[in-house]
Amino acid sequence: MNFYKINSYIEDLYKERETITRKEFINNTKLKDFIPVIDDDSARFLRVIIKILKPKRILEIGTSIGYSTTVMAQMVKEYGGKIVTVEYDEKAAKAAKENFIKAGIDENVELKFGDALEILPSLNEKFDLVFQDVDKKLYPLLLNDCVRLLKKGGILIADDTLFPVIDLDKKWENQIKPIDEFNKLVSSKEELESTLLPIGDGIMVAVKN
Ligand SMILES: C[S@@+](CC[C@H](N)C(=O)[O-])C[C@H]1O[C@@H](n2cnc3c(N)ncnc32)[C@H](O)[C@@H]1O
Repeated sequence: MNFYKINSYIEDLYKERETITRKEFINNTKLKDFIPVIDDDSARFLRVIIKILKPKRILEIGTSIGYSTTVMAQMVKEYGGKIVTVEYDEKAAKAAKENFIKAGIDENVELKFGDALEILPSLNEKFDLVFQDVDKKLYPLLLNDCVRLLKKGGILIADDTLFPVIDLDKKWENQIKPIDEFNKLVSSKEELESTLLPIGDGIMVAVKN
């Protein structure tokens, strides 16, 4: 299979569609060249999942400039859903808040500013969907909290989970081992029914039994 051909075929299908792309979102944000945000095909996946499941409460770990938050919030806004998103970088959090206001979704988003390693253990409210997209070294460390914070039947989605097998820039190589560890933990966890999809840089999807 030629993944490059597959990807460009898929992207061609959607190029006329009126949804905000990753590139447009970054171009409209003052803070450029920050940590990468999700790919357009991952954004489409999130939209489809949200359209099907209509999650009322979403927890996102890793906001950056707020692209994935905005993609999800535009969907949940239709039925009054809420997103709690966690970010510890001051500049990114500021840029994200500006983007939420610009996109008209700020009332559907609560940004918790601080370290996810401290914030997650302090949360008790349950969520219908958890979207994991923080520093990859934290994925295995935060897995039990992610599962604890999910309602039964709730969905865990984790981005970048094919890092162990894709061509990665050298600067991300230290993220391969923790992702591999995370994938092994998720796929063997009794509480979860899961699969790993080749969307973007890999999307792990799991349902809490
Ligand atoms: C891949 S980016 C998130 C991209 C975002 N989900 C999107 O697609 O628009 C990961 C983010 O996690 C943040 N981050 C890393 N470690 C963190 C931690 N310990 N607590 C909170 N945020 C953290 C980084 O500052 C960065 O903005």
